[in-house]
Amino acid sequence: MKKKIILTGDRPTGPLHLGHYVGSLEARIALQNEYNQFVIIADTQALTDNAENPEKVRKNVMEVTLDYLAVGIDPNITTIFIQSLIPEIAELTMYYMNLVSVSRLKRNPTVKQEIKQRNFSNEDKDNSEDSIPLGFLAYPVNQAADITAFQADLVPVGEDQRPMIEQTLEIVRKFNRIYGNVLVEPVIKVPDRITRLPGIDGTAKMSKSLGNAIYLSDSPDVLKKKVMGMFTDPNHLNVSDPGNVEENPVFSFLRAFDPDQEALLQMEQNYQRGGLGDVKVKQHLLYILQQMLEPIRKRREYFAQDKGEIMHILEKGTAKAREVSAKTLSDVRKAMLINYF
Ligand code: TRP
Repeated sequence: MKKKIILTGDRPTGPLHLGHYVGSLEARIALQNEYNQFVIIADTQALTDNAENPEKVRKNVMEVTLDYLAVGIDPNITTIFIQSLIPEIAELTMYYMNLVSVSRLKRNPTVKQEIKQRNFSNEDKDNSEDSIPLGFLAYPVNQAADITAFQADLVPVGEDQRPMIEQTLEIVRKFNRIYGNVLVEPVIKVPDRITRLPGIDGTAKMSKSLGNAIYLSDSPDVLKKKVMGMFTDPNHLNVSDPGNVEENPVFSFLRAFDPDQEALLQMEQNYQRGGLGDVKVKQHLLYILQQMLEPIRKRREYFAQDKGEIMHILEKGTAKAREVSAKTLSDVRKAMLINYF
């Protein structure tokens, strides 16, 4: 039987963190044998709000690839490739733009939130909608092209990517209605064990731009500093005070990463009752994260020794990705009646 196809990926704007790990990396490792998996390093998408930082994007293509290999994404079975080197994606984006309205893009909740976070104004423009780069507003269309160029059946991503998959589905259905049944409708897969990892500062989401992330590549010292400085229950002033485990990121992390969830329940009860200090809990978390990240760190260091080999992996993956997307584009062009010769 033919394997089903996965397409997922990341923007190369920084190294990957624990939020990425529970959000999508784990799923990729678990599914790579069962599926024909493609992982896109979305440099074109990264440039939609980093047009003036090409060095940053270039540098992080390497960092993100090292993170992939370090966590155990196997380039012999998963195809890792660079988005900008697949012209078929750019071509599809152009065709899909005819199927999406500007107002629909402006209503995309993730895009809306990102526009708020970034400041797109410059000297002669305020932060009005008119100063949003056209490419940034349209990146969900570009992402629909990423997914459909590979006729992906499944897209494992974090919850924040749901609006992108919904928009992709709308495009796919409209395309198939107008031009005939060519595109596969993708299904989203979000992690079932935890929805969103908070930041170490207690804000709802771990994110590079908020500066509250623990990176897979953090050194033991940096990790220690971050964990021991983590936000906890602000009302838990004395060890004997009853504490809150729900909105407490230290416990959120433990629920995500502690292999002994039964013992964790005990610990949570002790903390709620009063008598368990934050330092103790943090030390426990630090131990668990060190155990988990140490082998990842080691493998990352190993792979980082030979950057030429990393580029070779990307080159091979990109060549394979082009073959697959070229086949889709041939079907698309035929359906759209633009297969002239
Ligand atoms: N938008 C995704 C992110 O910010 C990255 C991405 C680009 C992606 N193309 C994709 C994810 C296709 C899944 C499928 O993390």
